[in-house]
Amino acid sequence: MKKGKVIGIVAIKGGVGKTTVASSLAAELANRFGQKVLLVDANYSSPHVAMHMNIDKPAKTIHDVLSGKIRTSNAVHSRYGVDVIPGNEFGSLKFNALKLKDRIKQVQDKYNYVIIDASPSFNDELLSTVIAADSLIMVSTPDTPTLSSSIKTAMLAKHRGTPVHGIIINKIRDPRYELTLADMENETDLPVIARIRDDENLVKALYMRMPITVLKKNSHFSKQMNAIARALTGKHQDIGWFREIFGLKFKPEEVNREIIREYYESPIR
Ligand SMILES: Nc1ncnc2c1ncn2[C@@H]1O[C@H](COP(=O)(O)OP(=O)(O)OP(=O)(O)O)[C@@H](O)[C@H]1O
Ligand SMILES: [Mg+2]
Repeated sequence: MKKGKVIGIVAIKGGVGKTTVASSLAAELANRFGQKVLLVDANYSSPHVAMHMNIDKPAKTIHDVLSGKIRTSNAVHSRYGVDVIPGNEFGSLKFNALKLKDRIKQVQDKYNYVIIDASPSFNDELLSTVIAADSLIMVSTPDTPTLSSSIKTAMLAKHRGTPVHGIIINKIRDPRYELTLADMENETDLPVIARIRDDENLVKALYMRMPITVLKKNSHFSKQMNAIARALTGKHQDIGWFREIFGLKFKPEEVNREIIREYYESPIR
């Protein structure tokens, strides 16, 4: 198989939804698009992929891989159609995180996609994802403190030369008092690729330790993951028969997802 695409889910901010996006997008790519997917927890200080993917006290983790104890393939757990390398919540951090790229390379040709759930800490933890990834997806909430972190994340990616597909604006609650798509795009100079409302189904998903795209594929959150997965796998956006018949215009984030699709369609990729 051709080497898989490595996509990092990033934000220099905790709690914005990185792990939720990483795990549900990985499951969507695997289960509805027939892709072979590896999900890697690169939030070494505070790893939560295991909780989202129903892995209880993993015996083999990314910590063991990075400290050279085991090979990458030996840390793989299979859940919900996805190969997962979880982290060890209480594991020692005495390793060089920047070896992540090299460790992923050991297995990259077995996968179509490697999704990395990044750390929010502005240090080597996050840098390991930015360096290992071919491209990044940023997650942000629509408030000014998070926006300033998003600007910083965009600068880091640019400095390291890792392309950013765009921003997912997550947990939208009341647009009257929140930053708009235009605010986010103007300030970060990045396209918005999805706008996701605060979705109560996520509480149940976390409780069930199940990606929302597996638990409830028709939820708002899952539909947004489906749209991103479509773009990443080179498929046109599904705007629905109603909008097609009435010739309704594409939303800005739909246009931006078409750009991702074209990026992957390009013969030089
Ligand atoms: N759109 C949403 N609506 C409601 N709840 C959400 C949404 N997205 C994420 N959440 C919830 O927000 C919480 C934080 O999400 P998550 O753990 O994915 O964030 P994170 O960015 O990975 O955090 P950390 O930086 O600490 O790793 C979780 O309880 C999750 O279920
Ligand atoms: Mg997380």
